[in-house]
This record gives sequence, structure tokens and C-alpha cells, in this order.
Amino acid sequence: MSSWWQAFFDDAYLRIWEQVFPEETNAAQARAIWAMLDLEAGCRVLDAPCGWGRLSKPLAEMGAVVVGADQSEAMVRAAQDKRGALGEDRLRYVRHDLRERLEESGFDVALNVFTSFGYGTEEEDEAIFRTLREAVRPGGRVLVETNHRDLMCSYISRGTKASTRLPDGTLFIDEAEFDAIGGVAQLNWYWSGPGGKGEKHANWRCYTPTEIVRLMQRAGLHFVGAYQGFSKIPFRSVGQEAGGRLSVVGVREQGERG
Ligand SMILES: C[S@@+](CC[C@H](N)C(=O)[O-])C[C@H]1O[C@@H](n2cnc3c(N)ncnc32)[C@H](O)[C@@H]1O
Repeated sequence: MSSWWQAFFDDAYLRIWEQVFPEETNAAQARAIWAMLDLEAGCRVLDAPCGWGRLSKPLAEMGAVVVGADQSEAMVRAAQDKRGALGEDRLRYVRHDLRERLEESGFDVALNVFTSFGYGTEEEDEAIFRTLREAVRPGGRVLVETNHRDLMCSYISRGTKASTRLPDGTLFIDEAEFDAIGGVAQLNWYWSGPGGKGEKHANWRCYTPTEIVRLMQRAGLHFVGAYQGFSKIPFRSVGQEAGGRLSVVGVREQGERG
């Protein structure tokens, strides 16, 4: 049976989101991830899922050896198109469903960035985290960076219907409905502009920070810490946005197999 997310990440998605994330923003995020995880030139990074490679490419340019994996044909094609002069020895892309184990392993770090789980069942999310755990070497770390339920509820409590004018003039409206019992938000996107109009709908399972840590632990990772966005600042649930975006780091302990 096919799931909504298998068709969702297409060329229309790319036309919107590459305007939200221009290259300068992606480079700044890559620098923040580098500093947060104390990465070093030559380190092996798995960016999974990688989308259109918005972080894979600047991380490879900074000196990491990067593999980007994503299930979307459109995203992997766009990532290849945008790879520039980087050789295959520095940056590679594979089309892969992360619910299944990757062929390659031994990475120093695996990244799961920009709310890239919660699209299906909890079992599927655990399988994705397990894939990341198995892809890193013993002592390797997994970084998960995401929106979360507390942040989502803070938006809803303010009654916000976010509307953004994108650089090409497109008006983008983001309207969410939240099923608090199921823990699933329905995201409703509408846009209209020079590139045409359209809409997309997605179901996102929004976990609390507590549940995200437990999910990583169930996948066999040991909890290292939770941080504010891409920083080393410990996460605290403060302010109007309940702490803002969350990063959780887990480690595959030394000596652990399989
Ligand atoms: C919100 S995008 C984020 C992509 C990227 N991490 C970024 O920061 O731009 C989520 C991505 O997850 C991918 N994805 C979702 N489920 C997946 C799965 N089971 N296996 C591989 N990729 C998946 C989608 O194709 C999409 O490109």
C-alpha cells in the first residue's frame, strides 16, 4: 500500500521550499551542524533523508565525505542536478527507503533534519531511527532535528494561520489542524503565484520531546542530549514557542553490534 509521503515530495514541493531555504540559509545551517557536532574534515556523514541535498552539498564543501539518501525520485534528481563540481568521492546520493537498512555503514554521523519522520506509524519511525543507528559506526552519533508537539500546540494556541510571500511573489499559506488524541497534525498548504497555484495535504505524527527521546532509545541509541535548534545550548521548554525547534543527539555505543 502506498503512503501519502511517497508522492508528496515532488517538483511542486521543491519549487516552494527551495525559496524558503536559499543557499545562504543552508550554508549557515551546515556550519551550525558542523560546530554543534565538532565535525572534522574527512568525517563520513549520512544525510538521511537528504531532500534536494540542501545540507549534503555545503557539508561536503566544508570537507565531510557525504552520502545523501532519500526515497523521492524528484528530490534525488534535484540533488544530483545541484551537486556542482563535487566528485563522487566527496558526495554521493542514493534513492532509498529508510525504513529498510542501508547497504553502507561505518558513518561517523547520521543526520535526520527538518522534521523528516512522523509520516507514518510509530513502528515505521522506529525503523528509520534503527536504520540510522545501524549506519553509524560504534561511537557514531545520530542527530535528529525537528518540530515537536509542544511547539505545534504553541502555534495552534495562538490561532495562527501562517502566510508567507515567497521571493518569486508566490503566496504560501500553511493551515494546520491537530488531532490531540491521535497525536497527528494535518498540514494543509495552499499557494498561488507566477509558477501556478496548488495545494498539498500531509499527516504528521507530532511527538513530544519525551517521546522522541524514547523512540531513539527503542531504536537502540543511547541518549546524549537535547539542544535548541542546531546549537550546543541545552533544550529548555521556555517561551512562547515551548523551546523552539529541537535537536536530539543519540550515540551507538562502542562495542555494540548489529
Ligand atoms: C521535510 S523533507 C526534509 C529533507 C532534508 N532533510 C532537508 O532538510 O531539506 C523530508 C524528506 O524525507 C523524505 N522521506 C520521508 N520518508 C522517507 C523514507 N521512509 N525513506 C527515505 N526518505 C524519506 C522525503 O522524500 C523528503 O525528501
